[in-house]
Amino acid sequence: MSAANHAIPDNIAAVLTDPAAYADHRIFDAYRWLRANEPLGMASPRGFNPFWVVTRHADIQTVSQQSQVFRSSDRPVALLSRKAEARIEAETGGNGLLRSLVQMDAPDHPKFRMLTQKWFTPGNLRSIEGKIRDIAKSYVDRLAMSGGHCDFVSEIALGFPLRVVMSILGVDPHDEPKMLRLTQEFFGAKDPDNARKGQNDGVTALSDVVSEFGEFFSSVVANRRANPCDDLASVIANAQIDGNPISDLDALSYFVTIATAGHDTTSSSSAGGMWALCEHPEQFDKLKVSPTLIPGFVDEAIRWSTPVKHFMRTAAADTELDGRRIRRGDWLMLCYASANRDEAVFQDPDAFRIDRSPNRHLAFGYGPHLCLGQYLAKLEMRILFEELVQRISSVALDGPGAMTVSWFVNGPKRLPVRCQLH
Ligand code: HEM
Repeated sequence: MSAANHAIPDNIAAVLTDPAAYADHRIFDAYRWLRANEPLGMASPRGFNPFWVVTRHADIQTVSQQSQVFRSSDRPVALLSRKAEARIEAETGGNGLLRSLVQMDAPDHPKFRMLTQKWFTPGNLRSIEGKIRDIAKSYVDRLAMSGGHCDFVSEIALGFPLRVVMSILGVDPHDEPKMLRLTQEFFGAKDPDNARKGQNDGVTALSDVVSEFGEFFSSVVANRRANPCDDLASVIANAQIDGNPISDLDALSYFVTIATAGHDTTSSSSAGGMWALCEHPEQFDKLKVSPTLIPGFVDEAIRWSTPVKHFMRTAAADTELDGRRIRRGDWLMLCYASANRDEAVFQDPDAFRIDRSPNRHLAFGYGPHLCLGQYLAKLEMRILFEELVQRISSVALDGPGAMTVSWFVNGPKRLPVRCQLH
């Protein structure tokens, strides 16, 4: 069978490529329709090169596992319009703006991943748990200082993971606002509040953001090469592959990936979890009575919010998947947020249940590119909510929340809350 038999209707394809649909949740209706009617279909929305849309949990696992066939380095790993894809291809000679882990394949990918994998293991992270708890406490204090009323996103969810990831990357706290702005511009090009100011052209804006990141991290690299210590920044700056130091571009790409992937995602899941607790006070009461449920709550919050909505893959050869003929060069969108509401895997998938077990969500991806920072993200969220649950006896919304407008990484951008303090 060919793609023509599996065309996704235009109205559904238009939702997939409408960044506002990810903010007002229309995307979940589109995913539901796709899972039921065209779980592996071809979308050809206006202004975009066609791409396969993979919406079922099982198919996303199959594609992710076969990383030799479904590659990450041949075309962009996040959806871009036809014009943007062509411009980046032309301006970078097909090399992309960065060369990060998510854009690599074997044999480079496992070598680059191994450089920091040990650093991100639960055993190693135990050594920074105390530091993370101190940071979490200082953010929960802000809630107390505001009498329990605040915008949870700007006061807590954005700053806490940012401080954690910047401290492991050796960034001075006074540079954090700049890092936050750059990350929001990196992921938020379509969001009216977060897009880079004074730049209407998305590709130029993205390229400027990457250059500004590069300039900033080149001084961190130089510093850690001259004065290595035991932090992650030193591991990356002094990394060697096959006995040779990694290039400046590779080192900078590594920094930028961890800086960007490392906090916006965790902020979105933390705020998403808080939002869910406000809407489901009985789940908060359960946490209050049994804080041992917090790790389960963290996983459910990550499934529920799934901040990384998709990653793309490119077929390296003609192949077949679920009876569809995939051609070499075809682009595939892996819709994690759809997999995480797949009725075949999750009972009552639209319900928020902190005791959901098992919870085999794909919010961290699957296969060789499985999120490197997943244990760090979960550790941060566990500690934050342990500290919060101890200090408050109830949570409620204190006005309407709002989500970022983006088809790639999105989550709450405003969440007014009212908490009863002990
Ligand atoms: C709830 C928080 C997080 C979510 C939902 C998330 C999600 C993801 C996803 C879906 C991927 C897969 C990419 C692919 O398949 O191509 C990924 C990869 C990655 N993530 Fe995370 N992430 C989170 C937190 C973090 C943190 C805290 C860090 C680091 C400090 C991090 C660093 C990375 C890196 C370096 C990769 C690339 C791995 C590779 O390609 O081998 N992430 N993440």
